[in-house]
This record gives sequence, C-alpha cells and structure tokens, in this order.
Amino acid sequence: MPPIAYLECYRCHARLSAETPQTVCTQCTDAPAGSLFVRYDLSHLRRTAPRDVLTPATSAHPSAGMWRYSAVLPSVEPVTLGEGWTPMLRSRRYVNALVKEEGANPTGTFKARGLSMAVTMARHYGLKKLAVPSAGNAAGALAAYAAAAGMEAHIFMPRDVPFANYVEAVAYGAHVTLVDGLISDCARMVAERKQAEGWFDISTLKEPFRIEGKKTMGYELVEQLGWEYPAAVFYPTGGGVGLIGMWKAFDEMESLGWVKPGKRPRMIAVQAAGCAPVVRAFESHSPVSQMWQNASTFAAGLRVPKPYGDAIMLDILKASNGLALSVTDEEILASILDWARNEGIFLSPEGASVTAAYDKLLADETLTPEDRVVLFNTGAGLKYTDMTAEAMKLQRPQ
Ligand SMILES: Cc1ncc(COP(=O)(O)O)c(C=O)c1O
Ligand SMILES: [Zn+2]
Repeated sequence: MPPIAYLECYRCHARLSAETPQTVCTQCTDAPAGSLFVRYDLSHLRRTAPRDVLTPATSAHPSAGMWRYSAVLPSVEPVTLGEGWTPMLRSRRYVNALVKEEGANPTGTFKARGLSMAVTMARHYGLKKLAVPSAGNAAGALAAYAAAAGMEAHIFMPRDVPFANYVEAVAYGAHVTLVDGLISDCARMVAERKQAEGWFDISTLKEPFRIEGKKTMGYELVEQLGWEYPAAVFYPTGGGVGLIGMWKAFDEMESLGWVKPGKRPRMIAVQAAGCAPVVRAFESHSPVSQMWQNASTFAAGLRVPKPYGDAIMLDILKASNGLALSVTDEEILASILDWARNEGIFLSPEGASVTAAYDKLLADETLTPEDRVVLFNTGAGLKYTDMTAEAMKLQRPQ
C-alpha cells in the first residue's frame, strides 16, 4: 500500500501534509477554500498488471471488498464492515445497461465506502469525536463505522429523513440531532459547534478521505467491465463525492496504464427537479451553482441545495462531454415501479432518478441502445419504505 505523498488543493494546488488531520485548504486566499485530494507516489505500480496487484490483495482477504484496491489507498489498517465489490447487474430489457448495485453495501448505500475510509483515517489520526451533516445515508454509515471503531458519532440530519436513517443512527449509538431544515442548515450547526465540542467534521468534500473511499467505484466499474470504460456513467448527484471520486480513479488508472486513455465515459449527473442546482448551473454555463430555494424531493439524498464541490463537478461534466439533467418525483416513482416489476430490482429513489434519466436520454437520442452505460443505484430501495409508500399512497390494509 502506498504512503500518501501529500494532499493537493483542487483550487490553488497548494500541497499540504497528511501527517496530521486536514479539512479544507489552508492556503486558498479567497473563499470557499478548496477541497483536498490525496496524492500518492504510484511510480512503483506503473509497470504492473492490475491482476498482479489486486488478486493477491483479495485472496489474502476474501471479504476485502473495496480494499482489494489497497494498492491505491492509504497504508493504514482499515475499519471495514465488508463494503464495496458490489454486483454489476445486467438489465433484462436494455442489453447495454448495467446497474451498479450499491444497495449491497453495509448500511445499504454507497456512503459506506466513503465513511469506511474517512473513519479509518480518523482512527489512524487518533480522533475520537466525529460529526457530520447528512441528508440521511451518510449519517447511518458514519454511525456504523464509528461504532465499529469505538468513536463518537454526532449526526445532524433533517427531521424528515427516511425513518430507516433515524432508526439505524440511534441503533448504532450515535448522538442524533434532527433539524427543522435541510443539510445546509445541518452543516451550519456542525460548523458553529465543532470547535467547542472537539468534533472533527466529516462533511462532504471538507476532508480528503471520503473521496478516496468513493473512488473505488471507478476502479470497480472499469474492472468489472474488463478494464474498459463504458460510454456513459449515470450518477444521482447530491454533494457529488462519487462523481468526483470516480473521475479521480480514472486519472489514476490511466497514469498506471491500467486502462487506455482517451475514451473516458460521459459523466451524467442526475438531480431531482425539486432540487437541481448543478443542472441549473450546467445549463447556464456557470462555473458554480446558486443556492436552490425550497428544495424538495423524495429522493432524500439529492436534497443538497448548494453542494460544496459544485465547481469540481461542473469541471468534470465539461471535461467528459457529459451533461446534467433532472427528473421529477413522478418520473422517479414510475421508474421505481418499472424496475421493481420488470427487473426484480427495488431501486432507491436516487437510483430511480438515474434509470428515469436513462429513459429520457434514449428517447431524445442523446444515447442509443448500443451505448454501454453504467447506472448507479446508490442505495437499497428497502431503506425508503416509508417515503416510497407515501409516494405510492400505499397503506397497510387494516
Ligand atoms: C442513496 C443516495 N444516492 C445519492 C446521494 C448523493 O450522493 P453524493 O453526495 O455523493 O452526490 C446520496 C446522498 O446522500 C444518497 O444517500
Ligand atoms: Zn487552496
């Protein structure tokens, strides 16, 4: 496993040390301070074949999950619950559509990858109290990994999160505050209290390691496709860590020679029509987003009115010849039922935003059925039974 060479600011490219815990760039002269990216010296891996690196890691630890990529992750003892190496399911109807089933992760969502890595590093640094503002699933994941690591988790999430997020956080023994507001209000509360309380803030893109966990999705999807890129990757976008992490993985894989450069997938960011700041910025060619007023959607993870990493995401969408589009809650619900009934896959509302967006881009011929696409189902539909039942107007018969 490689030692970390340094942390690099996305905005001003300052190099910071990873010897002590870092949050955002301390050298940026204007706000907002840039997010930090972990950089390694990977030169010793450059002449290797991926199977020679990855097979030994996985056969030594059969439940390695995302840690099969330990060669490109920080060299520390993982706090793991078996996250990653999730199934890539071929659609029964669209021969070139593959669903990356992240609902198979511990805590039922892809948030497990980022929080496993962030808590691993927090333990390595000797931190004891972690705090996170969350749309719901990051809270559940932090609660689980903090419990596994013997740390305190302080969670701030909207009062109307899916009930499963509240139940799991309490069950894992986290300190839970339900907030009358959105994730942006939760973030403000964490920022106001963290210094006095001695909390380390694990907010999206305000520490460097959640990206490192999420980047394993990029390695995985390319490996599962035989070390080839798909034509497009559809990602339900809230804070955007997965999108940013996958793009970083593509950079790294190309520099290692593990995948041929020049044919990167189009990155397709999908948001809900009731909260689509990245789509609006993309459409107006703006380098950053504006705070979305009165954000509302039952795809709870997409209710992020002003993502901290908006500029990074918009750069990636442009660089990949990608696009951003939104779908309505009605289209999301219709896609949940379509995939449940015709494919046997119970998507999360966030995942169904992606399948609904795929339908749209086939219909308007932006994509053809021959284009191979990866559709991210970022969470298990079963985490949302209350929200989905409400959307379906479904009640238990008396
Ligand atoms: C199931 C699900 N999908 C997608 C997202 C958005 O993820 P990101 O913040 O990486 O864009 C979230 C965030 O909470 C989520 O819980
Ligand atoms: Zn900077």
